[in-house]
Amino acid sequence: MTMIHGSRSDAAITPILPLDGRYDLYGPVHKGLRRAGMALLDRLGRADFASPAATTGLLTELRDYLRLATAHIAHESDTIHRALEARTGPATQELDRQHADHHRSITGLIARITALTDDFSGTREEAGRALYLAFAAHLARDFAHMHEEETVTTPLLQAVFSDAELAAIEMEIVSTLSPEMNLAFMRLIIPALSPAERVRLLGGVRATAPAEVFRLLMDEVARPLLPPADFADLALRLQIAA
Ligand SMILES: [Fe+2]
Repeated sequence: MTMIHGSRSDAAITPILPLDGRYDLYGPVHKGLRRAGMALLDRLGRADFASPAATTGLLTELRDYLRLATAHIAHESDTIHRALEARTGPATQELDRQHADHHRSITGLIARITALTDDFSGTREEAGRALYLAFAAHLARDFAHMHEEETVTTPLLQAVFSDAELAAIEMEIVSTLSPEMNLAFMRLIIPALSPAERVRLLGGVRATAPAEVFRLLMDEVARPLLPPADFADLALRLQIAA
């Protein structure tokens, strides 16, 4: 795990080991967080901050994203790191330090959002530019952090846990979520996945969860959020009528 310290600046050349069909604990949720973060950054860059009405919805969505990002960090620290350290001994101090850094960064972003929401003066454009830059810097650090988790921590997790144990860790996280929070994460994740990953996730839900959960994810998440052709492909792969 010490290689974490040296790997940050040259993340682009960190060896990326094949998954070889192993359980990918970080992959789907990180894809969802990256996609949503990039979309929000794009919109912040184009937003008309001079007009309070034009940015209210965007600022609410940014708050919601940061709420999910905060919950995600807690899930990793409380469940994944605890399970890993129970098996390997100290292994996650650097990741925990990065999580603490994210918490500070998120607190700062929320303060900027609150100030903007309450600001009807002529300085909104400056405040909007500052929020855009601060969020971009936050995402840059978060992307480097998630890269480390997927290239350094994932192989370690796969070395010390079986796929069944990794799935149990994931279920432990999911079981702590409210239905509303669960759905919010699924809205992030499902559109961000490849067709094969989507089938694995939804096929897994169909095989293990109550039938109404599968129906809810198909009807309230996949159908409205996926392009029609992608939803039709998903339905076909799951062998259900679109
Ligand atoms: Fe993390």
